[in-house]
Amino acid sequence: MFTSTNPSNTNEVIATVPEATAAEILAVLRTAKNAQKGWAKLPAPTRGRIIANVGRLVESNKEALAKLITKEMGKVYSEALGEVQEVVDTCDFFLGEGRRLYGQTVPSEMQNKNLFTFRMPVGNVFVITAGNFPTAVPSWYIVPALLSGNSVVWKPSEFTPAVANALTAIFHAGGVPKDILMTVVADGAQTFAALESGLKEGVINKVGFTGSTEVGRKIGAKAGEYIQSACLELGGKNPMVVMPDANIDLALDGALFAGFGTAGQRCTSLGTLWIHESIYDNVLAKFVALVENAAVGDPFKDVLFGPMINQKYLDNHLTHLKMVQSHHKVLGSTSTGQITAANPRKGFVGDPDKGVFAHPVIVAGITKNDELYSTETFGPLVTVGKFSTLDEAIELANGHGYGLSSAIYTNDPQNVWRFREGISAGMVSINNSTSGAEAHLPFGGNGLSGNGSRQSGIWVLDQFTRWQSMNWDWSNKLQKAQMDLIEIKHDPNFVLKI
Ligand code: UN1
Repeated sequence: MFTSTNPSNTNEVIATVPEATAAEILAVLRTAKNAQKGWAKLPAPTRGRIIANVGRLVESNKEALAKLITKEMGKVYSEALGEVQEVVDTCDFFLGEGRRLYGQTVPSEMQNKNLFTFRMPVGNVFVITAGNFPTAVPSWYIVPALLSGNSVVWKPSEFTPAVANALTAIFHAGGVPKDILMTVVADGAQTFAALESGLKEGVINKVGFTGSTEVGRKIGAKAGEYIQSACLELGGKNPMVVMPDANIDLALDGALFAGFGTAGQRCTSLGTLWIHESIYDNVLAKFVALVENAAVGDPFKDVLFGPMINQKYLDNHLTHLKMVQSHHKVLGSTSTGQITAANPRKGFVGDPDKGVFAHPVIVAGITKNDELYSTETFGPLVTVGKFSTLDEAIELANGHGYGLSSAIYTNDPQNVWRFREGISAGMVSINNSTSGAEAHLPFGGNGLSGNGSRQSGIWVLDQFTRWQSMNWDWSNKLQKAQMDLIEIKHDPNFVLKI
């Protein structure tokens, strides 16, 4: 059994759900795989209408779902509302795709012959997601996968089973058959064993995974063994560069939200704030003041961030604190580590001893050789460093090998274009936070952040469909491509005489 508790009040049990074994997951994979062909036969516009129903139901249950998210994983309620809105937006985008899902007509090099392309569903999709976005990120996989005629088996985070079951119930209420979207809660080992046997048996035709680079590497390798490429959305060490000409207050608003929103537990959270040397001391001092004065605590109140997702994420954060070196300055709070009555945070909202809260931390003076420079910390920890030229900033922003999100604050268009061209990240923000991507632009990363797959918008369709090309020769004779060439009469030596 998995028991999830409220991270703001760990005595409060949110849900207790059965733990699936690898054999049980495999049985579910087989059921969904068997059902897929029937689902694919439904006209895509009909599947689109079902997605429309789901979107409307998510919208009408928005507050209930957001409350459950805040209770089970701890993000502040306003962010939880935003997360649920992202599910609605995803449904709104894809309900129309049901009436498009375009293929192409392509001219043939021969007469009396026509060429076409069709998008074909891949089959059964195994989706494995993390606890930090328990509805929005899963919907990025589930909605387009279903719309394009696939069945889905979803393995949500074992830390957010109540939210996962609630979202699944909404999909079913909207008209998605129960054997077309099936949700199983399991631990990593059982999931991986089922992944292996499902791939071997051919009941997994695509894997979607959002989580750590370490696990993504294993999942990607396993899929590769079976000649598949997984859709991987992995970690980040997202840089934010502040140029001397930037609107500093705007940059600081962005850094505060990107660094500490969701307690830093977004894959798009700010990693390192890179400040130009000419403004470094001033900007750092302002950032420290903002973080010191930010409200932390009860996520149902007006706070910057609430608890960590659970003890595991807090422990992880404590490990990262050990990477602080003597040349660093630790700033931002009255202490570091877990917030408790004995290790208090100034102005804490609520009772810290009830939950798993962490002090926000700024580690200033980061340099390229530090462990913290290249470690994704996934908690309320922002590293800060300085640079002297934009080229140096770009090098520092790319040098760790992650490439998910990035940001630059500047009012000079030349800086904007040079940064956009030089940054290796899949996503670039100009005068905006590294987090908070909109749900219909391609989302994904390069290098350690992902294998080039993109989610969201029309781009994700390439993950859940395969192109089938068709040629139809109606000439009633065998015409041979590349061999039966139509002769072109022309004069290759022609020169214009004026
Ligand atoms: C994630 O943390 O896995 O861009 C996704 C953002 C959100 C999604 C984050 N829309 O910050």
